[in-house]
Amino acid sequence: MRFHNKKIVITGATSGIGLELIKQLQPFHPEIIAVGRAIEKIPAIPRVYPFAADISTQKGVDSVFDFALEKFGNIDIFIANAGFGYYEKIKSPDWEHAGRIFSTNVLSPIFGLEKMLEICKEREFTYAVTDSGLGRVYMPGYALYCGTKYALHGFVSSMQYELPANAHLCTIYPVAMETEFFNRAGGKKMPRPFPTQKVTTAVRNMLKDLQKEKQSSYPYRPLRFLIWLSNVFPFLLKTNNRMETKKLNKFIDD
Ligand SMILES: NC(=O)c1ccc[n+]([C@@H]2O[C@H](COP(=O)([O-])OP(=O)(O)OC[C@H]3O[C@@H](n4cnc5c(N)ncnc54)[C@H](OP(=O)(O)O)[C@@H]3O)[C@@H](O)[C@H]2O)c1
Repeated sequence: MRFHNKKIVITGATSGIGLELIKQLQPFHPEIIAVGRAIEKIPAIPRVYPFAADISTQKGVDSVFDFALEKFGNIDIFIANAGFGYYEKIKSPDWEHAGRIFSTNVLSPIFGLEKMLEICKEREFTYAVTDSGLGRVYMPGYALYCGTKYALHGFVSSMQYELPANAHLCTIYPVAMETEFFNRAGGKKMPRPFPTQKVTTAVRNMLKDLQKEKQSSYPYRPLRFLIWLSNVFPFLLKTNNRMETKKLNKFIDD
């Protein structure tokens, strides 16, 4: 798949991965609708059209599609990248707290793919979803976040077998990166999980995988091997998670 002159929608485009995607796509001269709530953070770039929407609601996602179709007439590539995490120990029942993260990280990308299938009909399109390494390997402190990303992994993996030939679906599994993600999840002082990667490198690898029309992208290349290791030798994951639990407890106590 080529990016040249394509009509692209990117959610979560106001910082981190989304903003870096916009920058690294520039040599291909695409037209991009850049979606987020704080769109004032998106720098002025020719052919980049910021659009403010809360994608955790159906109304918000519908408004993104309405705007994109009015502006472009069609969408070639949709990158459902918006998402967030909580770093916490769950203490009390809170439907709204869990609902917020599931609406943003799971329902929104599911609904986006359903909409693309409806509007594109037989036209070729690419739908990319930012999942997470924590959608393949779980970790204490991220129970709700892992719940969302595992759910997304299950959905897209099943969908790969159901899609028509004109639809290309790519799921991206990044590892920890210094975006706004951790500041939002637990604040500046929260411990970072292993492994980590620079966002510039991760996005470069994502774009390479998207160009090759891969069904999944592991921007941190050794991650596939680490997932295999944790499946074959579960004690490794348990040992790592015991260390992560200590970090979590210390973080909560401080
Ligand atoms: N950074 C990591 O370590 C890491 C690792 C693995 C996977 N990921 C995944 O990568 C994706 C991007 O995260 P990032 O690292 O780039 O974090 P980030 O810098 O915090 O960016 C998150 C983006 O999502 C948008 N967003 C969140 N909730 C939204 C909502 N309700 N409506 C509209 N936009 C919303 C934010 O925009 P506004 O706040 O302006 O709305 C922002 O543009 C997420 O899905 C995350 O789960 C991140």
